[in-house]
Amino acid sequence: MRTAEIRRRFLDHFVQRGHTEVPSASLILDDPNLLFVNAGMVQFKPYFLGQQTPPYTRATSVQKCIRTGDIDEVGKTTRHGTFFQMNGNFSFGDYFKEGAIEHAWELITGSQDAGGLGFDPDRIWVTVYLDDDEASDLWKKIAGLPEERIQRRGKADNFWSMGIPGPCGPCSEIYIDRGAEYGPDGGPVVDEDRFLEIWNLVFMQYERGEGSGKEDYEILGELPARNIDTGMGLERAAYLLQGVDNLYEIDEVYPVLQRAAELAGCTYGKDHTNDVHLRVIADHVRSGLMLIGDGVSPGNEGRGYVLRRLLRRSVRAMRLLGYDKPALPELLPISKDLMKASYPELETGFDRISQIAYGEEDAFRRTLAAGTTILDTAVETTKKAGGKQLSGGDAFKLHDTYGFPIDLTLEMAEEQGLKVDEDGFRRLMTEQRERARADARAKKTGHADTSLLRAVLDQHGPTDWQAYTTLETESKVLALISGADGVPAAGQGEIVQLILDRTPLYAESGGQNADAGVIEWDGGSAEVLDVQRPLRGLVVHQVRITDGELTVDAAVRAKVDPEWRLGACQAHSGTHVMHAALRQVLGPSALQSGSYNRPGYLRLDFAWKGALDQRSRHDIEDVANLAVRRDLPVSATYMPLTEAREIGAIALFGETYNPEKVRVVQIGPGQWSIELCGGTHVQSSSQIGPLVLTGESSVGSSSRRVEAVVGIEAFRYLAKERDLVSQLAEILKSPRDNVADRVESMVTRLRDAEKELARMRAAAVLSSAGELASGAEDLDGVAYVATETPEGTGGGDIRKLAQEIRGRLDPGRPGVVAVAGATDGKASLVVAITKAAKDSGLSAADLVRGALGGKGGGNADLAQGGGVAADQLRPVLDSLRQLAAARGAT
Ligand code: SER
Repeated sequence: MRTAEIRRRFLDHFVQRGHTEVPSASLILDDPNLLFVNAGMVQFKPYFLGQQTPPYTRATSVQKCIRTGDIDEVGKTTRHGTFFQMNGNFSFGDYFKEGAIEHAWELITGSQDAGGLGFDPDRIWVTVYLDDDEASDLWKKIAGLPEERIQRRGKADNFWSMGIPGPCGPCSEIYIDRGAEYGPDGGPVVDEDRFLEIWNLVFMQYERGEGSGKEDYEILGELPARNIDTGMGLERAAYLLQGVDNLYEIDEVYPVLQRAAELAGCTYGKDHTNDVHLRVIADHVRSGLMLIGDGVSPGNEGRGYVLRRLLRRSVRAMRLLGYDKPALPELLPISKDLMKASYPELETGFDRISQIAYGEEDAFRRTLAAGTTILDTAVETTKKAGGKQLSGGDAFKLHDTYGFPIDLTLEMAEEQGLKVDEDGFRRLMTEQRERARADARAKKTGHADTSLLRAVLDQHGPTDWQAYTTLETESKVLALISGADGVPAAGQGEIVQLILDRTPLYAESGGQNADAGVIEWDGGSAEVLDVQRPLRGLVVHQVRITDGELTVDAAVRAKVDPEWRLGACQAHSGTHVMHAALRQVLGPSALQSGSYNRPGYLRLDFAWKGALDQRSRHDIEDVANLAVRRDLPVSATYMPLTEAREIGAIALFGETYNPEKVRVVQIGPGQWSIELCGGTHVQSSSQIGPLVLTGESSVGSSSRRVEAVVGIEAFRYLAKERDLVSQLAEILKSPRDNVADRVESMVTRLRDAEKELARMRAAAVLSSAGELASGAEDLDGVAYVATETPEGTGGGDIRKLAQEIRGRLDPGRPGVVAVAGATDGKASLVVAITKAAKDSGLSAADLVRGALGGKGGGNADLAQGGGVAADQLRPVLDSLRQLAAARGAT
């Protein structure tokens, strides 16, 4: 019996017994305690707890569920799947134990010809909670089960809760004996493989409190009513009824497994390891499909991470089988075709779903390509050294540099027979986090271990830092660090951390970016990528060796790129000038809260509420550029902090200064601009060159940001704007000064023309209403009009046309009007029905939802929907016609 058939029989059985069929809730139903929906009762929780009144007292559903607690077991045993469907029947204060047992017994033992599942009553065993004599007696009375096939179990097995606070109660489970070939006799208490649980009947009557696990919690009290919650594993019922051994072999799953085997060129059932991979693939591809279908996207935490892991594990399993081409494009469509009968939205949404899945596979393939060799080398080295576990450092590097999540490293190492020093890995992760915090101001220290840096600092003392005095120094290499380790030498192409005894390079600080430059030595050179001061007094360069080999103790020349430095000085002095200009124009409260500058560019955040108007922006630019023209002198001097305060130097909030000695940068006479600052500066303001404000924006509620370009960048910026105006003048054939007026009048004319066009189009569409109404088709007494509007007709007009046509139909006769239209490839559908149609039981909202597979909104008279591709309009109208016709005939 096909899975879809079992599902149908289940729902029909309960609908016939007065239950309302309720569709599955989304897998990501909003419950703060649950990552995913994991049981059929989740969507009914508020009813069980008495927080909401259910609109029915009996319900039945087939719920999509995800459970990933046992993800590592998938495929190894035959019972674990991450996605499954749970058939359930629910009673909210209506029937209780007796009804639940009766309904379940009738369905599982009812003959297949009469709509039942046809299980042999002699193979059925049940369990009940320890002291639940009532349930035990009912099993004897209703099912005639002998005493020995009713087993009693404790709280861990026969008392159900969600594992978190919520409704709970004793339960009774139904098992099928699969026969002696599956294990020893003696019922479920002896062997749960031979005796397979297929249905759990929960007699939900208590509320569970906080606590852990299945046994260790408090019962808070009775629920407002006694309820029933049952769950039958659809997949389990399927594999029993399909005569296969496990869930990976049922009709909704097996074709994916088969295709995977075909791609990998192996045969299922021949080799245990391969079989495990194939089952993982079949299970995970389907779970991935269902999760993306319900709106989850791959990510690094929470639900997104679960999805990412599922997809990545299936891709890796394919690789382990020897297939290393993209696998999901081969497998996902098969899974979709198998599942779409029950979940049609998988078909309509498949473009989106597949894009997300394939994108994740591509990204993962890149990660794998980069990291696998590194991992293999580490594994080999470890094994050679007789080690049994991969070091935390290796795992950390794989994570940090190659994006390997620790789970993946664990799995891949395990496949090669190694464990991983997980504690070591976590320690390094914590250290890195702490380092990142400590270095909040100098974020880019690379991966050097601070204990190593500290040792260098202890041994050699602080770096002799010459950034203010020279652009070039003769220096000695004190240490080279690669990754987290000190190394004696670094060769061409390598990126390492370099510590010198002396350097002229500016280390990023005070908002000023690090210098660019080169390190040269006899026989080689390196490019400076970054310069930071991870510890007070210690300058660390990040360099790429461009040529030759660099060794510890080598004599080198460290050189700042002079062009870069000039740009850096212009930008930093420009920042001070901008700050002074802001305070002159806006007032002294416009105090800098942060800044960043690099050659050609600066930005400055300052305390201010509300946007700056055009006028203020002009004034700020004016003050700044006048200061440039006045060629104000720029000086840097040292003094005690108290003295600096006395002369009015601005200290920045959040910075720590040495009270003995601070550096004061002064521009212009008196207090024009005095700031405590460690940056490099030009000698006089004219060297800054032009300053042009390019942007002004908000950063938080009471802080604004200005951005500017300076020096030659400012000139280039203005030149580009000039070219733009010239181009516009040429296109408009108008003098430059008239460009703005010309554009304005053109925009006005265009807008008027568009309005007129829309009006004419709407009139044309509406004028067809009469003709369409008189051409109505007769579907067994229902007047039916269906039409598509021309491309570009607005949603409002589609609706108006539907109403207009309806207005012209005979109001005394049932009539259905469907108008469909497409705008930019997206379809919309409006259905309007006459009052007589409504009186006969038709509903516009139902028709729209029926035609669009559940999507749409509105009421019985008028409803609309969309969400399908434009080329799907025909089939949608066809199915609508069928729906209307079906109603006409009854
Ligand atoms: N909530 C119970 C279970 O998940 C019965 O549906 O087993």
